[in-house]
Amino acid sequence: MSSSNLPTTAATESAAGTPEKTVIVDAQQVCKRFGGNLVLRGVNMTVHEGEVVCILGPSGSGKSTFLRCLNGLETIDAGRVDVDGQFIGYEQLPDGRLRELQAKPLAKQRMETGMVFQQFNLYPNMKVLDNITLAPIKARGVPAREAKADARRLLKLVGLQDKEDAYPKQLSGGQQQRVAIARALAMKPKVMLFDEPTSALDPELVGEVLNVIKELAANGMTMIVVTHEIGFARDVADRVIFMADGVIVEEGPPSQVIDHPTHERTRNFLARHL
Ligand SMILES: Nc1ncnc2c1ncn2[C@@H]1O[C@H](COP(=O)(O)OP(=O)(O)O)[C@@H](O)[C@H]1O
Ligand SMILES: [Mg+2]
Repeated sequence: MSSSNLPTTAATESAAGTPEKTVIVDAQQVCKRFGGNLVLRGVNMTVHEGEVVCILGPSGSGKSTFLRCLNGLETIDAGRVDVDGQFIGYEQLPDGRLRELQAKPLAKQRMETGMVFQQFNLYPNMKVLDNITLAPIKARGVPAREAKADARRLLKLVGLQDKEDAYPKQLSGGQQQRVAIARALAMKPKVMLFDEPTSALDPELVGEVLNVIKELAANGMTMIVVTHEIGFARDVADRVIFMADGVIVEEGPPSQVIDHPTHERTRNFLARHL
C-alpha cells in the first residue's frame, strides 16, 4: 500500500463507499520512547480482516516494541492503536479526554490479540493441555470441558494431538512453539502477532512452525508476523513492511518489496537475508 501516511479508518473507508473488509488493527502515528531513545517515530499500519502482514527489518528497528504496543504490553507516547475498534490502553471520557485503562479492562482488551514470542514461554510445570486451557478457563470463563475439547482441536491443528499429557521440557523447540501457537489461538483472538517465532529454533525445526502459520493464513486468520524468513514472507504475506529506525521505510506486496525494493536500506537488508 502506498498510503501509509494517510490516516485510514473504517469510517473513512465506508464513507468513500468502497466495499472494504473490516479493519482489525489500526495504528496511527504511533510513537514510543524509552528515556531519550525514540524507538517508534510515527508508525502507521492498517490491517484488514484475513490479511497477513510480514514485518522485516534490522535488529533494533522497533519491530518488537511495535507489536508490544499493538497488544497493550507497552504504553505509547503519541498516536493511537485500535484493535477491532477498541482504543488500546485508554478509554475516552464523555468530555473527549482520554484516561489510561485500569489493569482489568486492559487485560480484557489484550485477549483480542494473540501473541507468540521468540521464546515460547510455556508454563514448565503444566502439561500441554493445561497450558492451553488455563487462560480460556481463568480469563474467559470457558467451562473446563469445552476448553479441553477446543484445546484438543487446536493440538490437532498444530499436529500435536498425541502430546496433550507431555510437559514442555519433553518437547522439541518446534513442538513447544506449536503449543504456544495453540495456546494463543485458544483465546480466539481477532489477530495473531508473531515476534520472530522461529528465531530461537534449530534450522531443522523452523519449517514445521512456519507450516502451521501458513495453515492459519490459509484459514483466513488475520496476522502480523515479524520474521527474518524472507522466503516465508514471499509465500504467505499479502503485504510486506520493511521497518528501520522506528519508521516504515517501504511496504507493498512481496513481489514489490522483496523482489523489487525501491529503497537502498531494504536492498541491503535483503542482500544479507535472502
Ligand atoms: N524495555 C525497554 N527499555 C529500554 N529500551 C528498550 C526497551 N525495549 C526495547 N528497547 C530499545 O528499543 C529499540 C528497539 O528495540 P526492539 O523493538 O526490540 O527492536 P527489534 O525488535 O526491531 O529488534 C532498541 O534500541 C532497544 O534497545
Ligand atoms: Mg525484536
